[in-house]
Amino acid sequence: MKVLVTGGAGYIGSHVVRQLGEAGHDIVVFDNLSTGYRWAVTCGELVVGDLADEQAIADLFSRHQFEAVLHFAANIVVPESVENPLKYYSNNTRNTLNLLKAVEQYQVPYMVFSSTAAVYGMPEETVLTEDLPLAPINPYGASKMMSERMIMDLAAASSLNYVILRYFNVAGANPEGLLGQATPEATHLIKVACECVTGKRDGMSVFGTDYDTRDGTCIRDYIHVEDLAKAHVMALDYMAGGGESRVLNCGYGRGFTVREVIDVVKRKSGNDFPVQETGRRAGDPAALMADNSRIKQVLGWQPDYDDLNTIVGTALAWEKIWHEKQG
Ligand code: UFG
Repeated sequence: MKVLVTGGAGYIGSHVVRQLGEAGHDIVVFDNLSTGYRWAVTCGELVVGDLADEQAIADLFSRHQFEAVLHFAANIVVPESVENPLKYYSNNTRNTLNLLKAVEQYQVPYMVFSSTAAVYGMPEETVLTEDLPLAPINPYGASKMMSERMIMDLAAASSLNYVILRYFNVAGANPEGLLGQATPEATHLIKVACECVTGKRDGMSVFGTDYDTRDGTCIRDYIHVEDLAKAHVMALDYMAGGGESRVLNCGYGRGFTVREVIDVVKRKSGNDFPVQETGRRAGDPAALMADNSRIKQVLGWQPDYDDLNTIVGTALAWEKIWHEKQG
């Protein structure tokens, strides 16, 4: 299939591009390189451009007849979205609208959209099904919820089919060390802990130890980026085989506390970096885990890396490679 991958030079997008290439797809990556890297695009053509630029989108779609669009390009930092909401509504919501205008005009049949568990907000349940009401508690989640809605509405009014994937906590790296998270100023737990191991950071904080969980720290459902990437390739196959539009959670359905994650990073690296226990971070739900029965049933997806040691091991290996790459 001829596919457009927006944000394909970023962390998740680059892993998906590599798997799409292995599956034989013909790939064009469109990325503004704001948080992505040229080296991360390991197959296909890279077009450097921004989805705010409608002329650039028009040029892209007039040059290629895409059968599918995979839309990763977005800002993803929750606290930043609280401080600068319009950045998120511009870069995530409005730019998705810009992209959808071209999808409509050129009658692209398939779309895979990167959504997030942040659309659920702070639900009372800890294991979340796709049918829960959406109630995001920050602009990041809201910007993605609105994008989901635009995609659904366009699909209802056209021949577009979509798979919306709601990611839980994505972590880990390509097991051969080819790719990994290189995001500048990363805030995600496993990435931050790995940066402590390489010495990029002197230490880290645990945000809140008084949650109603087994050790008082927040529980999250960490999913290996290669398993997540596989879901995208399977979503394309599913739609090409006539599958109808779906919204699917991407997680393993189990969780680890912040302390458990840090312990594994310390144990696997043999590095006892300083950890400070501080107060809660605004907007953190106590526990979030995916009910993943739907993605298993609809796509036949099964994880290959459902093991915290493997997730952390690949993240650590990548962090060392990336640290040396940067000098
Ligand atoms: N945490 C720390 N110290 C750190 C970083 C994180 O204690 O230095 C804690 C957080 O407070 C939270 C947990 O580790 O309890 C996980 O935090 P992350 O920042 O790694 O991830 P989030 O759960 O906040 O958010 C991520 C994605 C969202 C997605 C969500 C779904 O960024 O897009 O997972 O679970 F919606």
